[in-house]
Amino acid sequence: MTETFPSDLVRKEIAELPDYNAGLAQDRFKAIYGIECRAKLDSNESPLGPSPRAVSAMQSASAGVWRYPDAANTALREKIAAQFETTPEHVIFGNGSEDLIGALFRTIIRPKDHVVTICPSFGLHEFGALAFGATVTKVPFNTDWSFPVEGLCDALASKPRLLIFSSPSNPAGPVITEDEFRTVVAAADPATLICFDEAYVEFIAPEHRFDAMAIMAELGKPALTLRTFSKAYGLAGVRVGYGVASDAPLIKALMKTRNPFGVNALAACAASEAIDDQAHLAQVVQQATHERDRVAAALAAKGYDCAPTQANFVFFNTGAPAKVLTEALRAKGVLIKGWQEARYETWARVTMGSAQENDIFLDAL
Ligand SMILES: Cc1ncc(COP(=O)(O)O)c(C=O)c1O
Repeated sequence: MTETFPSDLVRKEIAELPDYNAGLAQDRFKAIYGIECRAKLDSNESPLGPSPRAVSAMQSASAGVWRYPDAANTALREKIAAQFETTPEHVIFGNGSEDLIGALFRTIIRPKDHVVTICPSFGLHEFGALAFGATVTKVPFNTDWSFPVEGLCDALASKPRLLIFSSPSNPAGPVITEDEFRTVVAAADPATLICFDEAYVEFIAPEHRFDAMAIMAELGKPALTLRTFSKAYGLAGVRVGYGVASDAPLIKALMKTRNPFGVNALAACAASEAIDDQAHLAQVVQQATHERDRVAAALAAKGYDCAPTQANFVFFNTGAPAKVLTEALRAKGVLIKGWQEARYETWARVTMGSAQENDIFLDAL
């Protein structure tokens, strides 16, 4: 077929973006490598899956899928607003939290804006900014894997449009402490929006937890915190995440830039039931944190340098370009994620799967 597509149709910023380093679905793995995937540990999914209550809610709702869902996600927003002691006007749901990250960039970023994040970082925190012609400052973690508070405060002095980072950090795993967080938030100019991505918040040990939204409100900063049902709630496949904002006008604007029906009818029922099944969540967290400590210890015993983690994954230095190890593991049916970001190309991230999957990984290693 003759190519008819004029390459300059695509904006330069988009053409220059790297491809997103997404996890590999199991059927794609089999098609490419010709073997079964024995341990899928590349996407931070929950091996215990969703609450059975969420599954049966989706089954019951399936006959009604010919109707559009509630575009305003009223019931879900009320539920989360009650948890955060705010009003539904401060809450937004999306097709995964990545939908909301995209909406945030579309809403506030202008060409030549400045965005600050940390390094290594979740790719979409950077890509969304680059897609709109913004420049991104990536502040590296300190060598002991503490959060780079000084570097972030220095970067904030230039009054960037947006500060965005996750804690626990994906891919590295460390959490920012409450004192560190207060220092960073206090250093932000009121013209800077702080987006605090808490995709892995459920896995944080109680002694490391703090109420980030309350701190940002106390310090009077414009802020958005993001959470997801893809990780601890085991609903990655249905795509649902949410944000809570300091200010209702930000949510009103984000509602215009996200997909109007991004949260489908089945996802909405599943999320609602998942929130109510805290016993299932507790089981997931218990299993993941136990495995995380066990696998991190096993990796350290094998001589690998690991970042401290409070998430459902471990980030470790493979000692060579990560692709060498990740491809060797793939040949044994084990999927982990090799990192591709400058400075961290020898590091890889392994998700905590079932004990059996984790053992398959450790044996293959
Ligand atoms: C830090 C972080 N934020 C956001 C997301 C997006 O999650 P989802 O779109 O599945 O809700 C992820 C997924 O890996 C993540 O690691």
